Amino acid sequence: MPKIELMDVTKTFSEGKVLASDNITLTISDGDFVFLLGPSGCGKTTLLKLIAGLEDPSSGKILVDGKDLGMVNPEDRNIGFVFQHFQIFPSMTVFENVAYGMTVRGYDDASIERIAIEALKLVKLDHRVLAYPKELSTPELQKVGLARAIATRSRTLFLDEPLGKLDPKIRRPFRHELRRLIKTLGLTAIQVTHDQEEAMAIADKIIVMRAGKILQYGSPEDLYYRPNSIFVANFFGETNFLEGFVSNVTKDSCTFHLHLGGPKFEVKLAPGHAFKNGAQVMIGYRVEDIELIELHESMQAESQELDLEDKPKMNTIKASVTDAIFIGPSKRFIVKLENGDVIQAKHSSKFLLDIQKGEDILVGFHEHPMVFEYPDDLRKELSKA
Ligand SMILES: Nc1ncnc2c1ncn2[C@@H]1O[C@H](COP(=O)(O)OP(=O)(O)OP(=O)(O)O)[C@@H](O)[C@H]1O
Ligand SMILES: [Mg+2]
Repeated sequence: MPKIELMDVTKTFSEGKVLASDNITLTISDGDFVFLLGPSGCGKTTLLKLIAGLEDPSSGKILVDGKDLGMVNPEDRNIGFVFQHFQIFPSMTVFENVAYGMTVRGYDDASIERIAIEALKLVKLDHRVLAYPKELSTPELQKVGLARAIATRSRTLFLDEPLGKLDPKIRRPFRHELRRLIKTLGLTAIQVTHDQEEAMAIADKIIVMRAGKILQYGSPEDLYYRPNSIFVANFFGETNFLEGFVSNVTKDSCTFHLHLGGPKFEVKLAPGHAFKNGAQVMIGYRVEDIELIELHESMQAESQELDLEDKPKMNTIKASVTDAIFIGPSKRFIVKLENGDVIQAKHSSKFLLDIQKGEDILVGFHEHPMVFEYPDDLRKELSKA
């Protein structure tokens, strides 16, 4: 299982005018299933091709198991690459498509048959060896592409939006099958997707890219709960961002003041933050983490202090519900805080059924929000491009 290292890798196109990879340093461990995400044109395909050796870097080095990729002859690189557009040959049978690479490389017939059938068995398509592409469904065609990549016996599998063409209903089971396959074969795999949920569901690690750079690289939980930028926080899930400033700054905590003289929050910060008293910041809360408390409930709670002690510390603010939208499994609430900020909350529609549009409520904010320095260009940070 190969380990992949990129050292200061830059790739430019059009005589240096397009910077597709901007000084990327990155290590991908043995056997990891890594997802590459980011806005269109940010350089995902380019990075994938660089690691696969299909493009040469303009500068920097790529090592596979410590060996400089540039020193390996292209004909000695067995690259398992699955493209979004499957590139299946229509005039060849399923078997011939999977066998094609091996035939070109001059493998003997017995080896070709053994490896191709083995690969087709893995994707559960060994019953369609003699079928032609036009007789296959889209997921089956995708499996042919996958079997062909597996048959290269590359220890690394490169997947550029392999599920992009599949219907979401088919994608879901297929993505778990793909993960199972990769783990069974013990491959290191790198997959590009535009689907955040897919990446969260099956990746070991996720790389978020923007404008040729890597913004963050970590586990799905890291990216969701500890995003290092407003952009990443906004890219995954739904987040409310509140503006304000901080005071009482210590090594691991501060007081956040909602702007317009609104209420204060006690905020725990990640160690190593560099906020100064008075710094303008933004705090982020996921829509599912906003507590909505009915006023009569909060009065009850006050009279039952013992019950409350078990709950995490919560900052409450007066608010009113401007809209309550039923969306099947969940209900979305648009809530106006007493300082004028408008936020959204989303909860299972079975609960909170009583909270109605126009109702005055309390909004509860837990004390561990995401905290970010106020950006130079907020609109750019909040754009998904
Ligand atoms: N062969 C090429 N010649 C010139 N420019 C290129 C070439 N390949 C990519 N680019 C440019 O490099 C940048 C990154 O492209 P890339 O295809 O890697 O983005 P991407 O993240 O894969 O986008 P998408 O999500 O749309 O597939 C873009 O500005 C693109 O136009
Ligand atoms: Mg691409």
